Amino acid sequence: MPEPAAVAYGRRLFGDPALSADGRLSCATCHDPLRAFHDGRTLAEGRGAGVRNTPSLLDVADRRWFGWDGAHDSLWAASLAPLVDPREMNMRLEDVAQRVRDDPLRRAAHQAAFGAPTPRDDLELVVQVAKALAAYQATLRSPRTAFDHFRDAVVRGDSQGAARYPLAAQRGLRLFIGEARCSVCHAGPAFTNDEFADIGVPFFVAGGVDAGRHGGLSKLLTSYLNRLGPFNDVGAEADPRALLTRHLKIEPRHFGEFRVPGLRQLTRTAPYMHNGSLATLEEVVRHYDLLDEERLHVDGERILRRLNLRPDQAADLVAFLRTLSD
Ligand code: HEC
Ligand code: HEC
Repeated sequence: MPEPAAVAYGRRLFGDPALSADGRLSCATCHDPLRAFHDGRTLAEGRGAGVRNTPSLLDVADRRWFGWDGAHDSLWAASLAPLVDPREMNMRLEDVAQRVRDDPLRRAAHQAAFGAPTPRDDLELVVQVAKALAAYQATLRSPRTAFDHFRDAVVRGDSQGAARYPLAAQRGLRLFIGEARCSVCHAGPAFTNDEFADIGVPFFVAGGVDAGRHGGLSKLLTSYLNRLGPFNDVGAEADPRALLTRHLKIEPRHFGEFRVPGLRQLTRTAPYMHNGSLATLEEVVRHYDLLDEERLHVDGERILRRLNLRPDQAADLVAFLRTLSD
């Protein structure tokens, strides 16, 4: 598809409340571009009994699985879901398709993005809408931070440049990759290994439990919108990531696991965790510090343990986390 037109179309759709049943919500209502694509709320508006915290969409194109529970294996499928989720934009496929076909501006933008008339088939059309939304979101990048400048200075051997990075953050970084073992999970450029873990955040919700990855996997594996399905542009055979999906298996340990979130622009996306239960970075560090090991899964290698940090160490860790935002 001609990329710039798809991105422009996706950007328009992202802010378009006509894609919601009551004409009140757009993607940008919850993923606010002025707040690092977050909403500042504990639980997203309208999500049923309000079950989950809204993830930021910065660097989202680099993720392997989408949603706190990994219910999607592509950015476009994760973008189609909120359109038809009764707890979000609450549309039927045919209504989304109709609102694109019936509006001359939307229809023209759609045709420009895909270089062809809008498909007759509703599902096909909505999949294209989702792919345009994905093309736009793939342009969302987190800004450079004090930590990036420090890392680059170290790589260049520029000790003067490196010395500009606050000492408290340097000590926090040492803890993060050393004793506190945070980087076992929060690794790579976005500080996530793109896997799932149970870190003892309670998963009880009004009226039951949030099954986390266990529920996400059952959704993903039964969805015809996954990479094994007919809408994979590359084709399941040629797509190495389809292989990852094919090899997934649901196991009991997935119950109560959630995706390891990236840590960039954290200072703009409070509160934290899948249920927004921790208000500040100090509270997050305290959670790991005073971890209730009894609450964690017993199977598998235990990575997390109670840290028993001194107050100055906890403060250093927070100082480091703050340097991952601009
Ligand atoms: C009512 C608030 C709300 C609206 C409206 C909304 N989202 Fe979301 N979005 C969320 C929440 C909450 C999640 C986490 C869902 C989960 O884990 O099940 C999420 C997750 C996502 C993800 C996965 C991100 C990741 O890091 O895995 C993408 C992509 C996304 N939304 C895109 C969109 C698009 C595109 C739209 C508009 C079509 C949209 N969202 C509308 C609240 C919202
Ligand atoms: C075993 C893997 C693992 C380790 C080790 C780990 N984390 Fe996490 N981290 C996670 C997971 C999973 C979540 C999300 C949990 C949830 O929402 O239920 C998370 C959430 C977070 C968040 C909240 C981010 C957000 O946007 O909501 C921060 C901040 C964080 N971790 C920092 C740390 C620090 C600091 C350490 C070291 C003390 C650490 N993590 C160690 C897996 C890990």
